[in-house]
Amino acid sequence: MQNIRLNPNLLNVPLYVAGKPIEEVQEEYGLSEVIKLASNENPLGLSPVARAAFEHALDDAHRYPAMGDRNLRRKLAALYNAQHNAEFTPDNFLTGNGISDVLRMIAQSFIFDGGEAIICSPTFPLYRILATQFGGKTVTVPHKHFHHDLPAMLDAITPDTRLLILCNPNNPTGTLISRDHVDEFMARVPPHVVIVFDESYYEIVEDPRYSNAAEYIKQGRDQVLLLRGFSKVHGMANLRLGYALGTRTMIEYLHHAQITFNTGDPVFYAAMAALDDHAHIEKVRALIATEKHFLYEGLSELDLTFIPTAANFILLVDLPRDSKFIYEQLLQHGVIVRVAAGFGLPDAIRVSIGTHEENEEFLRALKDVLHNSNGNG
Ligand SMILES: Cc1ncc(COP(=O)(O)O)c(C=O)c1O
Repeated sequence: MQNIRLNPNLLNVPLYVAGKPIEEVQEEYGLSEVIKLASNENPLGLSPVARAAFEHALDDAHRYPAMGDRNLRRKLAALYNAQHNAEFTPDNFLTGNGISDVLRMIAQSFIFDGGEAIICSPTFPLYRILATQFGGKTVTVPHKHFHHDLPAMLDAITPDTRLLILCNPNNPTGTLISRDHVDEFMARVPPHVVIVFDESYYEIVEDPRYSNAAEYIKQGRDQVLLLRGFSKVHGMANLRLGYALGTRTMIEYLHHAQITFNTGDPVFYAAMAALDDHAHIEKVRALIATEKHFLYEGLSELDLTFIPTAANFILLVDLPRDSKFIYEQLLQHGVIVRVAAGFGLPDAIRVSIGTHEENEEFLRALKDVLHNSNGNG
């Protein structure tokens, strides 16, 4: 590589550390049974109706994607219009290869010439990665009791601020920004800053005070982008689809950063079917709602401190032992969780809410690790 000129922006990019795959842990530890509670996945999987729609669309696997994107955006427009009494059209939506890809388009569109992105610490690591990839600077604002500190984020805005990303609920804390706080924030934010609401976990949230970002787009605020996707409640993390809602002017601009055919028609048709499978969505929501409390009780019995969550994962903080030690011991028990060090929380672990059996197994293993294992923790 000596004579090859490299992109200095890329050399500064922190690499994303994903949750460890089940097969890797099986191989490494010689285990047959391994459960993964590390990536906030949907433990019930894809809706059977969505699977059928995906398989049906495979008839055209040899052709380039055709009407899937447009049809999904039509469906989304109808859905949002019914929900918000609005007049959105397909041109208010932009689809990508997961929300991750939509975030990439946004970063590419606004982070150039050293522009700044303001984010909370801790939050989803991809924001910093993308801002760095495009040669920007990330300004991190520490959390306040594990919530976004919106006044401090507003104070951090400079003429160079291009993006301010609000992860709602926030990964990894699971905390929510309420509608009232969004309203106060939106009243004060200057017009040159693009506000990105990452609502990856939207459908899981039960709190009625949640989210009204779409209202601002309905009012014509170009600076607001709302991101939602299909990886979580719809169980399509491996199929890759996410989208942005914005004003038509904003979405048209973002299209310049879109890669042609960024996902396939089977994925779009699966997504459309998933949106219609209300029974499956309810089943997933109900499981998470019930199991959340089961985990709260189990964690309290173990005298552990956790942050009550609005999403499908729980952050355990102030652990009585080193978080890396607990993580590694849990791996030996065949349970994969996530150390939160990569999120800037060295004393914490994030666990996704699984099926009842998986959650029981996690609590059993955790109890054993905390009470029976010897180690450096
Ligand atoms: C806050 C947040 N945004 C985006 C993503 C990525 O979503 P997608 O699978 O749609 O790329 C995740 C995934 O965990 C996430 O937690």
